[in-house]
Amino acid sequence: MSSLKTIKIDELVPGMYVNEIIEQSGAIKIKSQGRVTRLEVVDTLRKRGVKRLTIDLDKQFTPEQPAEIVAETAPVDVAILEQEETVSFSKELVRAENIHKKGKRIQKRLLEAVQNGLPFDDKIPREFSQSLVSSIHRNPDALLCLTKIREKDDYLLEHSLNVAILLANFGKFIGMSAKEVEDLAYAGFLHDMGKIRIPDEILHKPGRLTNMEMNVMKDHVYFGVTVLEEMNIAPHLIRTVSEHHERLDGYGYPNGSRGEQISRAGRMLAIADVYDALTADRCYKAGMSSQKALQILLGETPDKLDKELVQLFIKCMGIYPVGSLVKLSNDRIAMVVQQTQSPLAPVVKAFYSLRGGHFLEPKDFDLSSGTELKIERAVLAKDYKINFNAYFEKIIAT
Ligand SMILES: [Fe+2]
Repeated sequence: MSSLKTIKIDELVPGMYVNEIIEQSGAIKIKSQGRVTRLEVVDTLRKRGVKRLTIDLDKQFTPEQPAEIVAETAPVDVAILEQEETVSFSKELVRAENIHKKGKRIQKRLLEAVQNGLPFDDKIPREFSQSLVSSIHRNPDALLCLTKIREKDDYLLEHSLNVAILLANFGKFIGMSAKEVEDLAYAGFLHDMGKIRIPDEILHKPGRLTNMEMNVMKDHVYFGVTVLEEMNIAPHLIRTVSEHHERLDGYGYPNGSRGEQISRAGRMLAIADVYDALTADRCYKAGMSSQKALQILLGETPDKLDKELVQLFIKCMGIYPVGSLVKLSNDRIAMVVQQTQSPLAPVVKAFYSLRGGHFLEPKDFDLSSGTELKIERAVLAKDYKINFNAYFEKIIAT
């Protein structure tokens, strides 16, 4: 006689053995077998959208108490782990494009809610951040490429989305746990919401802000944190958001926290925030190249930014970050689409002939595969007056 029984998530309790997940919403797939040793495991499954599952009655066991001891004594069994299958760049790109568009829509709605002092359902951005992290797990290069599509007037929407993408990739790269990566990406997605309450003439002012204007600008952290507190967002996430302008030497804001007072997540958010701000095209200035931005980040260490983390960030982004443009030795412009083992020789998509001054049928080249073709240097689309956004959209569509 079968010892399997199908139950609803609400019936799951510690001591049961999960044989299979039968019904689950959301994109994050869960390893479907394992012992449920603690209530937190049930909560995690519920949060990941598990609705129905089968349990194996033969494998039921008595969970030890208290829960902390169980966690210590059964480290292998407690794990009902995420499992993400990796997919090709082109396969993920289609999905990533939808995630990217959805992220902008959600960000827009959040900002409108904050602007009008209305509540919003935090489940929506939370679940969105999870789907973003899932895409990074399947193939990080797809969403990373999309961070390069920028609409000059959408800076606020795109900035927070991009920072979330950069952080998901960064967190994964340095080996953070799945939960930490999700939290980090979520904090990135929420980090600048307070900016919507800053007057436009200050928020979009070209050039340097006066001291008085800067003081107004600094309030965006306070506004953002206040909103998140009203929404009952978890305190550790609020802390990360509150620290994104703090600097190790104590000259950041709003609290002038220094050194160890600033959490690792806060330091990582600060790095991703500066990097995206420097590389973004704004209505009054073109973004700088990734190389230049990474150099500037390094220049901010060790006084302002965490040196070790900046070095890891540079390693994670690569010398030629995915999505950036390069000039090849055959006078073609290409976009970096994938890192390889060789940092100077990524996979690129050539799409523009400088000699002919026209677009080409896009073609991929793996520069690490022994080809003569080399990268001469990193370039910016504006240097060649290329409508990069329009063409990039076309590349995605093909
Ligand atoms: Fe900010």
